[in-house]
Amino acid sequence: MWTIFSVILTRRWPQSSGSVRLKVSASAQTILPESPNSREWNAAEYHRVSAPQFQWGQRVLSALRLRGDESLLDAGCGTGKLTRILLENLPRGRVVGVDLSRNMALHARKNLEADFSGRARFVVADLVTLPFHNRFDGIFSTASFHWIRDHDALFRSLYEALRPKGWLHAQCGGGPNIDRLRQRVRALAQTSEFSNWLGKFQEPWFFSDAEGAAAHLRAAGFENVVTGLEEAAYSARGRREFEGYLKTFVLHRHIELLPTETVRRDFVEKLADAAALDDPPWTLDYTRLNLRASKPG
Ligand SMILES: C[S@@+](CC[C@H](N)C(=O)[O-])C[C@H]1O[C@@H](n2cnc3c(N)ncnc32)[C@H](O)[C@@H]1O
Repeated sequence: MWTIFSVILTRRWPQSSGSVRLKVSASAQTILPESPNSREWNAAEYHRVSAPQFQWGQRVLSALRLRGDESLLDAGCGTGKLTRILLENLPRGRVVGVDLSRNMALHARKNLEADFSGRARFVVADLVTLPFHNRFDGIFSTASFHWIRDHDALFRSLYEALRPKGWLHAQCGGGPNIDRLRQRVRALAQTSEFSNWLGKFQEPWFFSDAEGAAAHLRAAGFENVVTGLEEAAYSARGRREFEGYLKTFVLHRHIELLPTETVRRDFVEKLADAAALDDPPWTLDYTRLNLRASKPG
């Protein structure tokens, strides 16, 4: 059932201080739909269908003011679509992409490491326990922090990874993000068809509000904290695309708990039936939380 290969690489940045060695641990494995609370994502499918995340991420990227020689962390880099743009804007800089999913980190590494000749590295690690200390000039992150429930621990870890005067510029789901869909999922989870598997399932996200996020950032030591919510509803181009979004990046943690392909299909179809009647149809009622902060000098 498991197809695993593992590699442990120890890499050194070109032009680094010499003492900084980056340990890269990565392995690839098949997606296991029946594995509860898996950390894996279907990287190839995410790369193909993540248009909403890519659009939001490009907006966040376009607001960065870069010198071009920074050392940056892409926190929750996914398949590296946005990491690539980050690197293109850093002609003399470098980026470490970190992701908990081996599928994602390996996909990013395969696509990017050769293209950026030593300026891009990808690490499988948990953002809550990053293995970096005073290392980065800035941290960029999009569409990832809401997958982490403990924002106190997350922001402490990010703070530790930054150099003095380093910055954090991030966006994730927040506030009433996908409220309508969540209500439908909760109701469906209590029906006899799905309650055996989803009746007691705890949502895998934490959608912080702006004030709470600011408090967590300040508690971790950050200053110049600015947080805010923005609506970002996103309509798929039809039923097929909507169902693909649910399966690939909205409800994959729910779906992987369901026992058979038939039950999984029924679950997604029922949610799509409801979304077909929305105005406009096939709309995900996204809200994004923007976060900016810096580490004192
Ligand atoms: C929706 S994807 C976003 C990827 C990319 N930033 C983008 O905008 O396309 C969320 C990513 O966060 C990663 N992630 C979730 N929890 C994580 C954690 N605790 N540590 C590191 N990465 C995590 C997932 O593996 C996934 O690749």
